[in-house]
Amino acid sequence: MTLVAGVDSSTQSCKVVIRDAGTGVLIRTGSAPHPDGTEVDPAAWWEALQAAIAAAGGLDDVAALAVGGQQHGMVALDGRGEVIRPALLWNDTRSAGAAADLIAELGVLRGSGPDDGPRAWAEATGSVPVASLTVTKLRWLADHEPENAARVAAVALPHDWLTWKLMGGMDVGLAALATDRSDASGTGYFNTAAGTYDRTLLDLALRRDTAGVVLPRVCGPDERAGTTPAGIVLGPGCGDNAGAALGLGMTSGDISISIGTSGVVAAVTDTPVVDPSGTLTGFADATGRFLPLAVTLNGSQTMDVIRALLGVDYREYDRLALASTPGAGGLTLVPYYQGERTPNLPGATGSLLGMTMANLTRENLARASVEGLLCGLADGLEAFLSQDVPVERIRLIGGGARALAVQRIAPSIFGREILLPEPGEYVADGAARQAAWVLTGELPTWETSPSTATSAPPAPEVRAAYAARRDLWAQR
Ligand code: XUL
Repeated sequence: MTLVAGVDSSTQSCKVVIRDAGTGVLIRTGSAPHPDGTEVDPAAWWEALQAAIAAAGGLDDVAALAVGGQQHGMVALDGRGEVIRPALLWNDTRSAGAAADLIAELGVLRGSGPDDGPRAWAEATGSVPVASLTVTKLRWLADHEPENAARVAAVALPHDWLTWKLMGGMDVGLAALATDRSDASGTGYFNTAAGTYDRTLLDLALRRDTAGVVLPRVCGPDERAGTTPAGIVLGPGCGDNAGAALGLGMTSGDISISIGTSGVVAAVTDTPVVDPSGTLTGFADATGRFLPLAVTLNGSQTMDVIRALLGVDYREYDRLALASTPGAGGLTLVPYYQGERTPNLPGATGSLLGMTMANLTRENLARASVEGLLCGLADGLEAFLSQDVPVERIRLIGGGARALAVQRIAPSIFGREILLPEPGEYVADGAARQAAWVLTGELPTWETSPSTATSAPPAPEVRAAYAARRDLWAQR
């Protein structure tokens, strides 16, 4: 039996799965937590990876490994391969002003003026920059920490930095840094349709000529990125959303809705999606196709914060939400606790609207938090429909999808049947599948886990009430 390992270095933790390369059967797993915060020293991810590997019984019998990771985080390295400052993560919104500046500047450079910026960016990269994208974090660095920006000799993302550390880090040199299309497409300086970096955009971000700055080599989906000193073959890895798509075996017509730290609606398409409105990002997947996403900053915490306020466990929270009725008695929760990315409102805060003496109950509050989360994701789903992306099957995954209230209420908010795959580590599974592909030269057809279908009568009135209250923010 040949074993392969897949890693998910996510926002909250590092997970490792070890599977049989031929059948996909799960052999061992391990995990370790990551520190909280939107700015993290990458050394913490490396330590967590070592701990998760140890918890999974080590890699002595593993032939190949690939790393999936949270997208966009800025890992800036100096000429000696040292991390210059803690990484700014995808959910750090301090670069929102930098995003607005970059949009206007490219509009002038390549379009008819500042207002043409969104179109110019969508055409250049597939996406309109928001604070999450790496390119905006580099501009923030140039503006706020120019001495650090001047030292940047290489820029990596969480997954490709970990892959490089597994190769031996500075023992193999900065030139050995490698990535894949899926994560490169989230940087904001990669032309997703063409599959090449656009150096002009990196120059624009760092306000200097970046010809000498190393960017990770972009490997093909089944290309070896390198090996560990012990000889384990390393796949190119991928962004976590592309990893989940690979783990789920998504094809055209499939939509995944993931409720983790972020809320993500994703589809796999054969052609790139270009959306100058910025609702959909035009990223790549891990198989050579494309992976448009609608991503919210406020995922499962939307429920966690209300559950903590109510002082109840998961079970009681579900019971409360399901004891209320559609529309939560008129309460609407717009969950922009951390600002929001889709729609792009980085300075927004959450709001609870429609309170009366009669409706402010624990049941309605629990239900409003579930409905608010799902309505934000339903807006994302609608953006796919308006771009004519086929929507045939919707799979609900991620930690938040384990909540019974989410499972029961989601079909009414999305207005469609929902499939619930068995809970699993789909990102790490996708990375393991990639590792097997790289090792054997063939994408393995592992059996996918069975799904349960669930449906409910559509509740358009809940979405309408949410939309009216959501738009109060957009009008400010
Ligand atoms: C995708 C995104 C998040 C992170 C977190 O654009 O920002 O989904 O990848 O895992």
